[in-house]
Amino acid sequence: MTTAESTIILGTYGYSPGLEGVPAGETAICQLDEGGAGLRYRGYAIGDLAARATFEEVAYLLLRGTLPTKSELKDFSSELASLAVLPDRILAFLATVPRDTHPMDLLRTAVSWLGLLDREPRHPLREAQLRASIALLTQIPLVIGTAHRLAMGDGVVTWDPGMGFAENLLSFLTGQKGDGRARAMARALEVSLILYAEHEFNASTFSARVTASTMTDLHSAVTAAIGTLKGPLHGGANEAVAEMFVSIGNPNLAEAWVKSALAEKRRIMGFGHRVLKQGDVRSDIIQREAERLSDLCGERRWYDIARAVDLAVRRERGLHPNLDFYTAVVYLLMGIPRVLYTPVFVCSRIAGWCAHIIEQQEHNRLIRPRALYKGPAPEAYVELDDRR
Ligand SMILES: CC(C)(COP(=O)(O)OP(=O)(O)OC[C@H]1O[C@@H](n2cnc3c(N)ncnc32)[C@H](O)[C@@H]1OP(=O)(O)O)[C@@H](O)C(=O)NCCC(=O)NCCS
Repeated sequence: MTTAESTIILGTYGYSPGLEGVPAGETAICQLDEGGAGLRYRGYAIGDLAARATFEEVAYLLLRGTLPTKSELKDFSSELASLAVLPDRILAFLATVPRDTHPMDLLRTAVSWLGLLDREPRHPLREAQLRASIALLTQIPLVIGTAHRLAMGDGVVTWDPGMGFAENLLSFLTGQKGDGRARAMARALEVSLILYAEHEFNASTFSARVTASTMTDLHSAVTAAIGTLKGPLHGGANEAVAEMFVSIGNPNLAEAWVKSALAEKRRIMGFGHRVLKQGDVRSDIIQREAERLSDLCGERRWYDIARAVDLAVRRERGLHPNLDFYTAVVYLLMGIPRVLYTPVFVCSRIAGWCAHIIEQQEHNRLIRPRALYKGPAPEAYVELDDRR
């Protein structure tokens, strides 16, 4: 078949660079309204979940399909705590990683290791996948927390079954726990985790589904997803946003900074979205959280810089902030080290990834699209001796 014929036949299927606007599968996990106003996890509005649920309830909802009853939630929390241990070999690996390793690289490798060490039976498939997913929900914070503490010359972290998921994570990352201020911080962190937990066929989830569609194991699909999330056009944006706020330094300098960045054709991190061109309901929710926490901490500088950048970018380009933008304010106020922002995203999105991996394999069809060939026309093979 000639290049031209191949192109014509593929052309009958339509083509959209970056798969923009292309439905690439079916899901019962997340409903995303392109206008940006609507986002539902398994039918429940994100505004209700962020205002009223815990992260554990949301993780249960995503993985098991329904909101838990009180006793189901109690059992789920006990299961999380009982699986919250890291094998000795992972602890040994964390102790030997070079100190300047980015935590996302470390996490990707650690999850691959956890897959290697997972000797649990793989049947029945659904139960095995749920158990592995729930284990990862606590193992990932333990990996991040332990690596962070080791880098600071401290010891390993351990899961406190008397505290919720967000409280444990906050204490691993910042050492804060127990008092009223720490509880308020943990709730703000929890809201961000709920907002980050799931977002339909985003790049990392799609990557997980492509990998899962070969019917490989769950850890392989999660490893692929972590590598995909790391990039600055996806999960890496929250870290880049905080770097921008630090380099601007003062709300009065924000507008000039934005104008000069745009004049140099640089992208402003934390703005724009492939699907949500008219704004993102999650950004509105985390913005309110960022303002509330700024007042609570008596520190308005990051919020005021963010607000000034937001207004300037809207005015100059008509772009809306995405979830990563005001989340950076929340994490700066908490004192979470910047390199840990994207790993915190993983602590949450792992729930969505695993729900999608399970859904993909339960209704599997290998994901194998086609490419439009744009290379050279057919050439006659030239023997090595005859090449010039
Ligand atoms: C998320 C993102 C990759 C979506 O990109 P996309 O759907 O492919 O949109 P495009 O790259 O086609 O952008 C459309 C236009 O808006 C501009 N644009 C999009 N995001 C921009 C940003 N953050 N800063 C400046 N300009 C931006 C593009 O330059 C392009 O302008 P042009 O038509 O004049 O060339 C993009 O908005 C981006 O890079 N954002 C910054 C990174 C980020 O915050 N990522 C987290 C996403 S949740």
